[in-house]
Amino acid sequence: MAETANNINKLVLKAISAYKNRFNHQPVMGAIAPGRVNLIGEHTDYNLGYVLPVAINRWVVVVAGLVVSDNNNPITGQSTCSTSSTIVALDFNDEIMVDLSTEVSVSDKIWANYPLGVAHIFQKYGYSLPNVNMVITSSVPIGSGLSSSAAAEVSVATLLEMITGITLDPVVKASWCREAEHAFPGVPCGIMDQMISILARKGCGLLVDCQTGLYEYVSMPSVEEAVLLIANTNVKHQLATTEYSLRRDQCENAIKQIQQSGLNDFKKIQSLRDIKLTDLQTLKSYIDPVAYLRVLHVIEENTRTLKAVEALRNEDLFAVGQMMYACHASLRDNYAVSCPELDYLVELVHNFSNKNRNTSADSGIYGSRMTGAGFGGCTITLCVPEVVEKLTAYLQNAYNSRFNRELTVFTASVAGGASAIKNIDYAEG
Ligand code: GLA
Repeated sequence: MAETANNINKLVLKAISAYKNRFNHQPVMGAIAPGRVNLIGEHTDYNLGYVLPVAINRWVVVVAGLVVSDNNNPITGQSTCSTSSTIVALDFNDEIMVDLSTEVSVSDKIWANYPLGVAHIFQKYGYSLPNVNMVITSSVPIGSGLSSSAAAEVSVATLLEMITGITLDPVVKASWCREAEHAFPGVPCGIMDQMISILARKGCGLLVDCQTGLYEYVSMPSVEEAVLLIANTNVKHQLATTEYSLRRDQCENAIKQIQQSGLNDFKKIQSLRDIKLTDLQTLKSYIDPVAYLRVLHVIEENTRTLKAVEALRNEDLFAVGQMMYACHASLRDNYAVSCPELDYLVELVHNFSNKNRNTSADSGIYGSRMTGAGFGGCTITLCVPEVVEKLTAYLQNAYNSRFNRELTVFTASVAGGASAIKNIDYAEG
């Protein structure tokens, strides 16, 4: 807990100090939002199924202050109505100028479309914005499938709530952030990442029913019992975004084929969530083979997610681990979103587990799988803390020899959700 507070403090201090250097005055408000890993329930959110993500102790921080005109004294904080805001992205060593008091438009800088997209959605729903300067920085590794995008959107949305004086319902806030991501960066994501970044609770996973928007908290094992080991392949394959959109299209297409099967029971099907495994056998001859595999994944993944929740509640981590392995196999074989780097890591964990198993004791490994959209990014492994050191070295050596690339490995603790930074002045001294 103390370590977590320390990490947040460091990141906030970094943002404040960069803000002061850039603008010569103090930021007056700020917000933080966490990244996430998905424990299970992959590629099910946009099919209106179940997901079980957890927030991790990596955050995006945004700090902001009034735009002060050159003629005004920054010490007194006197401001005039300015016609532009400066948004600084520390991790990209870049900034943009934008007039937030008029309708914002899409930028040619990819990173800028995340804060701008959120500003656009606030404007779209009737909230006019003043010009404020912002500095944004992240300890969520960017582009690694740990949801730095959603964390950036949610941190900015939290800031804009403070600025406009509204408090959004969390599910509405998540859907605004998702809409922002669709509209500006143009990524057709589901709702999972934004939901967890907003609603996360320390020590808990969040089971979300993406059809109803209802959610419940599921206690994760204590850190003495099990940890989540994240292994970052440090690759993001080019086709990630196009393949993600293609999977969405393939699922839509499967629904159309099912509706057009002529079978009465399926005429009104709206999402893959409503199909059962037994239905799929009936439907097999009416849909193409790719559609069949995608639907199979979604149906089984929804079942696995609910089973994993039950297993967590029964403190049966072996059962959770089995679901994780099965999830990975299905993402690889049925949904086709894995890649050699991810497959190799899961295979290594499996080998490590087999090698270290003996008749009287288990290996300390419960399960492993890719997490997030796929085509690179990270795997997560659920294991006992005692094996972390040995497993990390094993994975790093083998991965490095096979791909000639560094594998970044770290354990994550299960963090809470987005919040305003209270007493932003606390860090000044
Ligand atoms: C990305 C998207 C999510 C979800 C996952 C796959 O992280 O942002 O909405 O679809 O991929 O489960």
